Amino acid sequence: MSTVVLDNVTKVYPGGYLAVDRMNLRAGEGELLVLLGPSGCGKSTLLRMIAGLEEITSGDLWLGGTLANDLPPRDRDVAMIFQNGALYPHRTVRGNIAFPLEIAKADPEMVKERVTELSKALHIDETLDRRPGTLSGGQRQRVAMGRAIVRQPSIFLMDEPLSNLDAGMRTELRMEIGALVRSLGVTTIYVTHDQVEALTLADRIAIMNRGVLQDVGTPGQVYNDPATAFTAAFLNSQQLNLLSATVRTPQNQFILLDFGPHQITIPWSDPRAYAISQYVGRQIIVGLRPDCLAPVPDTFDGPVFLGRVRALEYHGHEWLAYVETGIMSVSVPEPPDPRQAVRELAASGQGGRIRSAMRRLLSGGEAGPEPQDQSQDGSGGTHRRADLIVRIGSRPVWRAGEPARVGVDASRLLLFASDGSRIDPPQR
Ligand SMILES: Nc1ncnc2c1ncn2[C@@H]1O[C@H](COP(=O)(O)OP(=O)(O)OP(=O)(O)O)[C@@H](O)[C@H]1O
Ligand SMILES: [Mg+2]
Repeated sequence: MSTVVLDNVTKVYPGGYLAVDRMNLRAGEGELLVLLGPSGCGKSTLLRMIAGLEEITSGDLWLGGTLANDLPPRDRDVAMIFQNGALYPHRTVRGNIAFPLEIAKADPEMVKERVTELSKALHIDETLDRRPGTLSGGQRQRVAMGRAIVRQPSIFLMDEPLSNLDAGMRTELRMEIGALVRSLGVTTIYVTHDQVEALTLADRIAIMNRGVLQDVGTPGQVYNDPATAFTAAFLNSQQLNLLSATVRTPQNQFILLDFGPHQITIPWSDPRAYAISQYVGRQIIVGLRPDCLAPVPDTFDGPVFLGRVRALEYHGHEWLAYVETGIMSVSVPEPPDPRQAVRELAASGQGGRIRSAMRRLLSGGEAGPEPQDQSQDGSGGTHRRADLIVRIGSRPVWRAGEPARVGVDASRLLLFASDGSRIDPPQR
């Protein structure tokens, strides 16, 4: 068991690509920390830096309280499991699992005992004398797990270990991995781009985008109380409504979120009122999950958006309605383009080591095309007129083309500044 602490860890690849930007993160002893983010956001880079397979450009990595930046991989006591579970093709399952112990010249009797015990726990005891080529994808991943676990490392690093498996096998093995690493009590950092995997498996989730840490907390915290618009949208399979609103305080009576064709009032007694009032006269981003919206009758006296149903979509367990309301939507605000960001960092000179490392890399001159300017108007990402997504349960109460009266649960509005950070930041 060990802790993993990242202190301002940055990775700039040759050519100036900023893959990980000043990451601060801690995995406690025995914790299962899931790193979640879209493809290319720097998850594998971060994991490889912890394993010692990739050099850290700047910042410090601490493993079990020891500064580990320059520690060779074999001295880090970490075991890494990759997506494709690469095994030795000419060794049997038994030989693959036993390999790390044989290299360490462990007592053969002990090796035999451990391999038998582990193969039972991983449900591959019937395959011990077979070669990897004869196994299914799920079985191969179990063998790779066995090989990683057998020498009882202090830290497991798992890089999308289930992404090559079919959905059924993923669910099964996901539960087993969770149970196994918890029973062993080994600190585990698990990388995935699948939000369901993260929510179901993690003690805590760290969410990344473009090399920048967006949020970290328990699954309940990051889902219900996300720190950024990116986190909220990513954990909601991108079905989050992000709407542009201007904050007003007419005659100081209450706070008005002005969506253009529609408004929502927030009384001064609301716990978020003070935080929102700092944005008077400015545009903010209001996040609304489809389940914070519902069809309501004329008698409903809460906040309402009126519109017209454009389409209905059947999702098996529920229907979603797409409602035209005339409200402007905003795309998820993104951190700066990594290539641009690295130039700005180098120019601003954040400390000698990072500056000189970045200058050196940037002077390599392999930089690709300049990032294209995004059309922005100071309130987050690009604006467009988009339909409001409303969850309407298991029976379609509306029909396409009909007028829609959408009730809003104002207590569950998520309020973001134009850069995507929460206006009323969550307490973690
Ligand atoms: N050796 C390298 N040289 C230059 N750029 C690299 C190198 N390795 C990775 N990158 C870039 O760094 C960024 C982060 O890559 P990384 O593999 O860490 O992403 P990831 O989050 O693991 O993505 P995925 O989910 O697709 O595996 C990507 O844009 C990638 O192209
Ligand atoms: Mg990866």
